[in-house]
Amino acid sequence: MTRPFYITTPIYYVNDIPHIGHAYTTIAADTIARFQKLAGRDTHFVTGTDEHGTKVAEAAHKAGVTPQEYCDRIVGNFKTAWKNLDISNDYFIRATSKRHMDGVRKILTALKEAKTDDGRDVVYSDYYEGLYCTGCEKFITEKELVDGVCPDHKTAPQKLKEKNYFFRLTAFLGKIKEKIESGELTILPEERRREVLGLIGQDLSDFSLSRERVEWGIPLPFDENQVAYVWVDALSNYINAIGYGDDPELFGKWWNQSEVVHLMAKDILKFHCLYWPAMLMAAGIKLPDTLFLHGFFTVDGDKMSKTLGNQIDPGDMVKEFGPDGTRYLLLTQYPFGIDGDIQAKRFVQQYNSDLANDLGNLVSRVGKMVMVNFDGKLPGPFKSIDGLDELVEQAEKLPGQVYEHIKHFRLTHAIAEAISLVRAANKFFNDTTPWLLAKQGEMEKLGGILYASCEVIRIVSIVLYPVMPRKMTEIRSLFSLDESTLTLDHALKFFELQPGTLVSVDRAVFPRQDVKAKAEKKAAASSVGKADDQAGLLDISEFARADLRVARVLEAERVEGADKLLKLQVDAGGGKQQIVAGIAEHYELDDIVDKKVIVVTNLKPAVIRGVESNGMLLACKKGKKLFVLVPDGDLPPGAKVS
Ligand code: MSP
Repeated sequence: MTRPFYITTPIYYVNDIPHIGHAYTTIAADTIARFQKLAGRDTHFVTGTDEHGTKVAEAAHKAGVTPQEYCDRIVGNFKTAWKNLDISNDYFIRATSKRHMDGVRKILTALKEAKTDDGRDVVYSDYYEGLYCTGCEKFITEKELVDGVCPDHKTAPQKLKEKNYFFRLTAFLGKIKEKIESGELTILPEERRREVLGLIGQDLSDFSLSRERVEWGIPLPFDENQVAYVWVDALSNYINAIGYGDDPELFGKWWNQSEVVHLMAKDILKFHCLYWPAMLMAAGIKLPDTLFLHGFFTVDGDKMSKTLGNQIDPGDMVKEFGPDGTRYLLLTQYPFGIDGDIQAKRFVQQYNSDLANDLGNLVSRVGKMVMVNFDGKLPGPFKSIDGLDELVEQAEKLPGQVYEHIKHFRLTHAIAEAISLVRAANKFFNDTTPWLLAKQGEMEKLGGILYASCEVIRIVSIVLYPVMPRKMTEIRSLFSLDESTLTLDHALKFFELQPGTLVSVDRAVFPRQDVKAKAEKKAAASSVGKADDQAGLLDISEFARADLRVARVLEAERVEGADKLLKLQVDAGGGKQQIVAGIAEHYELDDIVDKKVIVVTNLKPAVIRGVESNGMLLACKKGKKLFVLVPDGDLPPGAKVS
């Protein structure tokens, strides 16, 4: 008997807005969960939010609200984003919920009582002194810093010394290695498995399980002065969400009796592949079956970050391509598992090619011919048609192939197989020239071609349902197909459709995106700054907040490792001020020093490639060349530009 299936995503930090990075993993997990359900497997899918820690408390203070109010607000954004993407999670776990916090206290108590194989306490208290990055919510070593700052967050870490409870990770590493090597704990893809085994071979230390002086966290059940370290808090969500703390029966089903899969990107490998199994072993809980760590993607070649302002809001994509278009486009950019680049500028073209042209067009042309030639009633099959046997063979193989891909997390391959059948059906349609048969009155053969094409559409509507649930349901309704036949079993056999079934294709299921109109709209939006609901218009008071000054460039130097950047010291009337400008490819150092430029002086400080920038220089791009704006007249540094 097949075990039930339990799949999770990471719980996402609430100090960030939901972006397509979060959406990527969530859509992937949703697709896998939906596919397992389609195959008749009892499936449970959980996602949620990570809400404790210094960063959240700081963000709340800045926003002038309590941490709880702050979390409630951001969690709403995640829930809305997932609703708009038709994410079908069975449960949403919040780290501030009673269910989760009860579970955290339970596992902490279990860990405190636990002994290692050689009889030592798993949890012990000691002092910890180190550099702590609030961005990562972890201690960071000198070695990991770049120019004195955390390479990921570009902020200097704080020095901390405090009493902590430690978790004796080192006592579990040998056992984790054994479990990975024996296949009891599967880590995928293979490259990540090797990375974990490599980490175990290094000199890892125990980790601290608690923090002092952190206001926003879960107090330890055995020492109220300390709160649970955010990762201990967060990781246990996977069991808390299914009742570890409050519902033994539910927990027994979804953890002990199920195949358990955790999906995430490789950024959180160490916590999931070492800390989490060690914690579970110490607490006497079975391990998950599989950890799949997919790659990390850049957007148009750049790492996504708040500072660069290149985070794509899944909501914007949904407005443009609908939930299904967004799901399809994100999952098909590059093979699932490896690192990749999402090229947003290719979305429209790909949508048009795969969805509007291939799939959408097949549905339209087949549907319309049934309506015109057979009064909207599906004709019967007809077997002697060139190319039919091959088409039937490819179609009957598809569900099995796709399920195999899904079981092995090859989502991109799974989708490609389905699209390849769609293309084969379009080719079959073109090669058999049904429009000529209609003219010649060869109705039986014409009917057979249309019948076979409808069968392909039906099978594809099942197989691609987990990727594009809304559109596949819509397609099915045009062919009078309801939920009762929406199972993988129904996709296994060709010649299932009943002749006479009503077909009514009265719309384009994937309307073509107008590439030209879109490009013009985007250009218009960017020429007036950010497009908002009021057509991108700025209120004069908003513009007046920018403090623009004439400034003289005093010094210039290149930023190491960043070909485009110059570090400038400028005088904008208030002494030396450092700004980082992306002009290195257009100006020699000597050309820019002593130049008078225009600078926005009251921007929030930013750290760009590890260098602090307090302002921004104005420039204008023509083609590939860039020109800095200079004042027309002998104006002194500090002169206000208005
Ligand atoms: N709160 C922790 C996870 C705790 S789980 C016990 C956390 N949160 S996060 O908000 O930073 O989410 C990280 C996850 O978001 C990644 O592991 C991945 O699933 C997803 N991604 C974020 N950016 C991404 C890309 N650029 N590319 C691929 N996945 C991305 O870490």
